[in-house]
Order: sequence, then structure tokens, then C-alpha cells
Amino acid sequence: MYVTPVLLLIFGLCMVVLKRRKAKVASTAPGPLGWPVIGNLAQLGCKPHKTLTEYRKRYGDVYQITMGSCPTVVLNGQKVIRQALVKQSEDFAGRPDFYSFKFIANGNSMGFSDYGARWKMHRKIAQNVLALCANKKYNPIEEAIVSEAKFLVQNLLKSDGQPIDPHHEIYLSVGNIICALCFGKRYRRDDPDFLQLVKNNDEFMAFAGAGNPVDIMPWMRHFTKRSFKQFLKILDTMDNLCLKKQREHLDTYDATHVRDITDALIKATEETSTEEKKSVGLTDVHIMTTLQELIGAGFDTIASTLQWSILYLMTNPEWQEKVYKEILAAYGTDKDPDVTDLSELPYTEATILETMRHSCIFPFALPHSTTKDTYINGYFIKEKTLVFVNLWSVSHDPEFFHEPEVFNPSRFLDTSGTRLIVDRTKLDCFLPFGSGKRKCPGEQLAKMELFLFFTILVQKCKFEIVPGEHPVVDSKYGLTLKPIDFNVIVHDRNMENTSTVSDLPL
Ligand code: HEM
Repeated sequence: MYVTPVLLLIFGLCMVVLKRRKAKVASTAPGPLGWPVIGNLAQLGCKPHKTLTEYRKRYGDVYQITMGSCPTVVLNGQKVIRQALVKQSEDFAGRPDFYSFKFIANGNSMGFSDYGARWKMHRKIAQNVLALCANKKYNPIEEAIVSEAKFLVQNLLKSDGQPIDPHHEIYLSVGNIICALCFGKRYRRDDPDFLQLVKNNDEFMAFAGAGNPVDIMPWMRHFTKRSFKQFLKILDTMDNLCLKKQREHLDTYDATHVRDITDALIKATEETSTEEKKSVGLTDVHIMTTLQELIGAGFDTIASTLQWSILYLMTNPEWQEKVYKEILAAYGTDKDPDVTDLSELPYTEATILETMRHSCIFPFALPHSTTKDTYINGYFIKEKTLVFVNLWSVSHDPEFFHEPEVFNPSRFLDTSGTRLIVDRTKLDCFLPFGSGKRKCPGEQLAKMELFLFFTILVQKCKFEIVPGEHPVVDSKYGLTLKPIDFNVIVHDRNMENTSTVSDLPL
């Protein structure tokens, strides 16, 4: 007779205890035990993306680690990541309150700022500006990319059959495209402003690697004062350069003739009403700092992917030949590629996709955080919990990619081996650009740049391993994964064609 009220009382007490526990814990997900102060940092090793993908086998698709003193939920595998970023997109669209983020673009950044009304308006402006400036009709950026890619070929060929590290030349070329987009100007390779921008970008990426100690243990900044000061100096230089460009543009600005991203942003400051801006706390300074953001985001990503592509081409000569023959058949030795032809070039597209899948340059996207208390896979996660989206676990998932460690573009081809798999939604199922609300807004520009640079490089050059060397296909860990430095021998395909023609009997 008393059983029911007693059970209800016990149930009620359990709920209160559970609720209290939830209030304290960041999540109820399982995970490895960590050390005091440093948490699981020491266990991550020099390849955190691989370690955290291994942990998935032990703890499942959702688990918790501690970064310093910061509880961090790690999401793994396509299913859970899509659930979080697409189906529960608002819950997982936040950015953590990292110490270093407060200094990026003086705290006015879009990509590093938290989810909310201000971010939404800022993101919309950034997207519109990108769509306008990387648009074939309004801005012939394709032509600029094609000429820059040819210039890159010329510079690589200057090595004249001697080993060359392609890193520097690639960075200068990709840097020039982002400058053409942002400032409407191509720079000379020795221009001090330009060289400063390239150097800044390299240093920023090195500092901002995921798992930065000052972000997860802010007190560390007292012990890393010098390097943090250096970081602030990098940000300051970038700020000054963009301000200088903004002033130069304002002198000749004409709202009816938008020349580049700087102009488009100036126009956005004028066209977004004061009331609209005020209602979400967006200022003209926020809008103008989008310039720095797009330079940062559109530089290293493309440059590292191109570096990876040369490494894969030279270590997979049979694929290099297949792609070369396809490009030769489509364009001959001199015709410029056209981005609308991409789907007609299955070997080329499959090789670019496999380059992105295998290298997975953004193994943890950018750090996310929860915007409210939520649940995923049955686990509770508290509001403002740091979340790592493990994209490496998606692109290297043996359930979807047979022998994921092997570079094999044919995985994107159908059974005939000559056409791309029919279901195009499966082509980017490894989420190279993330997904949901925070999905990369530069995706279309990135795809266009990668296709044009890649196709022209293969059309004009043959990449070979330096005799006697055994290049290591592995990455250096940072915010983006870059290949370990390597040298390559670059041959001129035109010379090859000329000699083949002249070798023919008269
Ligand atoms: C190979 C090239 C690229 C790759 C693989 C890539 C990938 C990504 C990824 C994974 C994210 C994070 C998504 C998340 O946090 O969930 C991201 C964010 C972002 N990307 Fe890209 N990206 C590339 C090129 C570009 C380019 C060319 C631009 C612009 C010029 C760009 C602009 C941005 C911005 C502004 C964000 C922050 C978005 C936000 O927080 O709302 N990216 N990108």
C-alpha cells in the first residue's frame, strides 16, 4: 500500500540528485581519467587527432576528456557529428570563450565569436561579400587564379630539375589570390607588405594550433609571456595592414563600382542600417575586421591543400599519369581549364577529393561550444561546454572508407572505375568544410581555387620524388595539418611533349 509513494519519493530524490550532479558536471559522457591541472593533455601526444580517434574505440562516439582544467566533449563519426551540427545545429553552434580569441581582430572576429544575433548578422555580411567577390559574373577572379597558377608553374620550373621545396612558392601564389580578392591588387613577390602578410599568416597558424595552453590554462600566459606577446604583435601587424588598405580604399571608393572585398565591406557598413546594427551590437569595426578574417581563413587552408596535392601526386605516379592524360585530353597543353568542367573530369575530381579526405587539414574544425544544456547520444552536455568535432574520425572511418590510411582516389569512382560515384551527396560525406551553421562560408571559392591551381599544375608539370629520397607522407600538427617539409623534382610537361614530337621520325 505504501510502496507507490515510497517509490515516488525515491524517484523524486534521485531526480534531485541527478539534477544537482548535472549542474556540476560538464557532461555525463564517459572518458579517460586525467591528471590534476593538465587533465588529459599529456596523453594526447603529438598527433591528438589520431589519439582521439583511437579513444572512440574505447569510449564510443561521444566522450569527454579534460584539456587542462577545461572539460571537453569530443564528437566522433559522421552520424553523431551530423546529428550535432545539422539536426541540433543551434545547440552546438557556439565558440568557446578562449583567452586568445579575445585578442583576435580585437575581439571583433566572426569565426571566433560566440553564436547569437550579432554573429548571425556578421556571418550573413561575410557570406554576401564572398558570394559577390568570388562570382564569375561580377568579379573575374577565375582569370586571376589561372594567371597566378601559371606564374607558380614558371617559378617551380625555375628549379630546372633540381630538388625544390614547393611550400614558399605555393604560399606566395595563394597569398596573392587572397590579396587580389581582398585588396583588388596582385603583389610583387618582394613587396614588404605582402611578405609581412605571408609571414604573419604562418606565425598565426603555428600559434593558434588546437590545444593551445593559454586557452585551456589561461594562467599559463604568465609563463609564456614572450610567445603570447609575439602573438599579439602578429595580430597588431595584421590590424594595421588592413586599416591602411581600408583608408586607401576610402580615398577612391565609389559605391556603384565595388572593386574588391574591402569595397564590399565598406558598402556593407553603409547599407546596414544603424538600427539594425545597434539591435544586435554589431559595429562598423566588426564588419571591417571581416577582411582580416577572410585573409586568414582563405590562405593557409588552400596553400596546405595544394602542398598536400603535390606530395600525393609525386608519391602516386600512376594517379598523376591518369589525371594528366585526362587533363591533356580535355584541354591539350595550353587551353585554360574551366571550373564548370569539373564533373566531366572524374580522375581530377576524385584525386582532389581524396587529397582533402586523406590530409584532413582541419582535424577538429574550429572549436565549438554548446549554446544551452543539451543531450546527444543519450548523454547530457551542459551549456558552454567546449566541444571538439573530430573530423579526422569521419574522413578516416573504416566503416565508410576501406583502408582509410591508403591514398586511393578510386574510392570516389563507380564500379566502372571511370566515372564519379553517382550519388554526389556521398562525395563530401567526410565533411571537409564542416557542416551546419558554422559550415565554411569559403567552400565555393576554395573549390574553385583548388580545381584551377591543381589542374594547371598537372597540365604543365610532372612531379617526381628526388632520387634516393623516401618522402614521408605525414603531417605537422597545428590548427591545420600541413605536410612535413619535402622536396620535389619538377619537370616541364611541355618539354616532354616537344621531345616526344621531335623524337618522331621525319
Ligand atoms: C581547402 C580549403 C578550406 C577548408 C578545408 C575549410 C574548412 C573549414 C572548416 C572545417 C571550418 C570550421 C567549421 C566549424 O567550425 O565547424 C571553416 C570555417 C571557416 N572558413 Fe573555411 N575552409 C577552407 C577555405 C576557406 C576560404 C577560402 C575561406 C574564405 C576566404 C574560408 C573562410 C572560413 C570562415 C570565415 C570560417 C568561420 C565560419 C564561422 O565560424 O561561422 N575558408 N572552414
